[in-house]
Amino acid sequence: MRDAILAILLNNTDRFVSGQDMSRSLGITRAAVWKYIKLFENEGYVIESSTKKGYRLKLIPDIMDRVVLTNGLKTSIIGRNMECYQNLASTNARAKEMALADAPEGTVIIAEEQSRGRGRLGRNWVSPAGKGVWMSVILKPRLSPEKAPRITIMTAVALVRALKQAAELETGIKWPNDIVCNGKKLCGILTEIHAQPDIINYAVVGIGINVNLSVRDFPEDIRNIATSIKIEKGREFRRSDILQAVLENMEDMYLNYFDDDNFERLLQEYRDYSVVLGKKISVAGPTGEFSGKALDFGEDGSLLIQGDGGKVEKLWAGDVSIRGEKGYV
Ligand code: BTN
Repeated sequence: MRDAILAILLNNTDRFVSGQDMSRSLGITRAAVWKYIKLFENEGYVIESSTKKGYRLKLIPDIMDRVVLTNGLKTSIIGRNMECYQNLASTNARAKEMALADAPEGTVIIAEEQSRGRGRLGRNWVSPAGKGVWMSVILKPRLSPEKAPRITIMTAVALVRALKQAAELETGIKWPNDIVCNGKKLCGILTEIHAQPDIINYAVVGIGINVNLSVRDFPEDIRNIATSIKIEKGREFRRSDILQAVLENMEDMYLNYFDDDNFERLLQEYRDYSVVLGKKISVAGPTGEFSGKALDFGEDGSLLIQGDGGKVEKLWAGDVSIRGEKGYV
């Protein structure tokens, strides 16, 4: 009922809707409608009310509300099923539970705050309340497990495009999964898959976007390597706009460029945004440190690197640092 009333208000922001009309169309009393209006006001919505004319929505707060986020969302799969939470340990953990319970492809899980947000390599992901986009998307691509890194490549390109569209922010990609801005990390992607030897059952794509964090929102030890849209642009942004742009770009790529015939175009865009290609880098990987020149990326998501001795190697994972440049990138 709450969602139905909110949807009516959202679709009629240019006029008043009478309490009587709402109560009639929804089959509840006018007093019940009024109770929901009070509830919305407590959540931060600003609603003009007039005893004669009814109610009109004047301001939508920047909260992660399923009705608001799906209203006007131009996708057919991603985000059509959505769950929003005040607090979760990790949206990836919740998404995995839901995928195991057969949630439909495109399901999106969003949290205002994560108490145990997870990053790659078992790291922690700082996810304070109301300041970022902390979400996970369930996908069920017809893909063999060794091609799973494509999911991260697609998501990284979608993030760069979305940040440009929704925040006019130029960003780059640091292989394999970081979105960077002015040498600092702005977003991270954590793709986790559940697979059989030949096919992926589902993938959970975790996306963390630092939107309205201030420097003091980051723990001291990462302040020199982390940034947010607010820090870069000097003002706050509506998280809902960023989130919608990400989902729309992801879906465009997933439906149109994700198959074998078209993936090369997506990969080319990934190369164009790369901040490591052509540079002398060091990669701290699971099997030790490797140094050389970043040559290219493979369709399987690997990094081709020419070692200092001349030999070309394929790397699948690791932390990249660019030699000769201090700091994180
Ligand atoms: C990384 O850069 O190491 C990946 C960070 C991924 C963070 C996101 S926030 C939403 C989702 N839920 C999590 O617990 N992690 C991902």
